Amino acid sequence: MTGERYEADRLHGLSKAGKPLLVRYDLAALAKAVSKKALAERSGGFWRYREFLPVRHAKNVVELGEVMTPLVPLPRLARALGAGADTILVKDEGRLPTGSFKARGLALAVAMAKELGLAHLAMPTNGNAGAAMAAYASRAGMRSTVFCPADTPDVNVREIALQGAAVYRVNGLINDCGKIVAGGKEAVGWFDLSTLKEPYRIEGKKTMGLELAEQMGWELPDAIFYPTGGGTGLIGMWKAFEELEAIGWIGARRPRMIAVQASGCAPIVKAYEEGNEHAELWPNAHTIAAGIRVPVAIGDFLILRAVRESGGFAIAVEDDAIVAAQEAVAKEEGLLLCPEGAATFAAYRQALKDGRVGPQDRCLLFNCATGLKYPMPPAELAIDRHRPIDYAAIANAKAP
Ligand SMILES: Cc1ncc(COP(=O)(O)O)c(C=O)c1O
Repeated sequence: MTGERYEADRLHGLSKAGKPLLVRYDLAALAKAVSKKALAERSGGFWRYREFLPVRHAKNVVELGEVMTPLVPLPRLARALGAGADTILVKDEGRLPTGSFKARGLALAVAMAKELGLAHLAMPTNGNAGAAMAAYASRAGMRSTVFCPADTPDVNVREIALQGAAVYRVNGLINDCGKIVAGGKEAVGWFDLSTLKEPYRIEGKKTMGLELAEQMGWELPDAIFYPTGGGTGLIGMWKAFEELEAIGWIGARRPRMIAVQASGCAPIVKAYEEGNEHAELWPNAHTIAAGIRVPVAIGDFLILRAVRESGGFAIAVEDDAIVAAQEAVAKEEGLLLCPEGAATFAAYRQALKDGRVGPQDRCLLFNCATGLKYPMPPAELAIDRHRPIDYAAIANAKAP
């Protein structure tokens, strides 16, 4: 925001102005240290991009079997919507450790916490980030404490606890949980790993941009639909593209960045539409897509900058459209999305209809977590094996 600079290899939270700090690299040295060819020969997931990441010493890397997440096309739905074959690609982040893209940011933040000698980490969460912090902190032998809204899906709260964090349900939203973390810094002595309140989670999320560029042969898609809460991933990918262009690995053509929110919590969409640089707190935030129920984002201006610089837009979708999108992708394509991931498909459908994206545009949607962690519609067919089986009824049965 202010352009001030701070020294590397020190512990940092926010800047003096209370704004996020971004890691800067010696890009000329980076370009000499690694080539596309060398990268292609490495196996594994996001730790392959080590030259683009802030961890200095390999001993501080914290691993849980990270993988490169696949790009899954939705050809049947593309055809049904009148879009070109292979125009809709889903990057399925549900395959990462702890089942969500939060693994990327938290692996980096925990590794840097290890490098900088921290012992106790804390954060507010809507579920997935807390689980990733708990897992990576336990892996690194660190203590962790998590605060989440009381209505966070039970499976998330339990996995956080099982993976070693002390987790508290709070009768409020994520920003209320954030205040508790901020308040405990002095009293308990933990380090605050909240979204964008330290510089390294975004470096982990940046690897989504590096990875998809590499997977697509260093040709970027026309548009990226990103389910936006704190917006770390959107900001991180934009940063990745800037770094890749600076070292000459990609050209100037970049994707349009599309911030997807739910109609019940759409502060970024409102700020985008009103032409504002910052977003106001969204009152009475509600949506079934818990991960994007973020009423206020500290990196609002960075999200809005990336959206505008890229020629993208911000779009809100109704909960009903999210449910319908999840069902369509699961039933037509066999891919189970989380509600936040489903929101990106709902937004794509909406944008295609109103002409904001064209039928030949290659669009990349983020499925940010495994659908298996979320409540699903009931499956009620049953058979009493002690009675005659009505095979005629079974033969005619359709999925509900
Ligand atoms: C499943 C899911 N989707 C999306 C988000 C939002 O991510 P970001 O904070 O990068 O905008 C979250 C964050 O909690 C999440 O858990």
